[in-house]
Amino acid sequence: MENVSEAGFWQQRYERDSIGWDMGQVSPPLKAYIDQLPEGAKDQAILVAGAGNAYEVGYLHEQGFTNVTLVDFAPAPIEAFVKRYPDFPTEHLVCADFFSLSNEQYQFDWILEQTFFCAINPSRRDEYVQQMAKLLKPQGKLIGLLFDTDFGRDEPPFGGTKEEYQRRFDTHFDIEIMERSYNSHPARQGSELFIKLRAK
Ligand SMILES: C[S@@+](CC[C@H](N)C(=O)[O-])C[C@H]1O[C@@H](n2cnc3c(N)ncnc32)[C@H](O)[C@@H]1O
Repeated sequence: MENVSEAGFWQQRYERDSIGWDMGQVSPPLKAYIDQLPEGAKDQAILVAGAGNAYEVGYLHEQGFTNVTLVDFAPAPIEAFVKRYPDFPTEHLVCADFFSLSNEQYQFDWILEQTFFCAINPSRRDEYVQQMAKLLKPQGKLIGLLFDTDFGRDEPPFGGTKEEYQRRFDTHFDIEIMERSYNSHPARQGSELFIKLRAK
């Protein structure tokens, strides 16, 4: 269990191609969210945390979003991303521990969550909430998907319930949307909550 807080755990999963979470495509609810954003949103500062193979980052880049940052502490998926998107600005590729990012260096209009929350040790969930709030500008948003299911295992993905998420996020966020996603990838149908949370 402690391993999940170390880059080596995840790096090894990428090296062994043991990446069952990887959908190989932009997550459909997030694509739908991105597609309805106005043209004026394209210069907003966006973070994709625990981005892995970063299909959402690639999609945002393809759609003309100019200020997208990716963070992941495993180098392998970032190296793979660079091969797929050689024109992506390297200064926006951050190979670092999400929890070590400083809000003096980074402030975002919105942050995208996609199978990152479920990858961290559940004992760090409050720390995750605080760090997300710190990295957002005032009124910034955390947008994404959380598993609405208990996997009952001592390894990622770590699931949870809507009640738990409401209680944890309520400390730093106004919960604008937290509801069952209707357009999830078929493999995740009925097991995801779409969230739109605004930093208090
Ligand atoms: C389950 S994978 C999900 C990857 C991607 N979001 C996706 O949906 O395909 C979790 C990712 O979070 C990264 N990660 C886990 N803990 C991290 C941390 N503390 N800082 C940065 N990245 C982290 C892992 O390296 C891994 O790429």
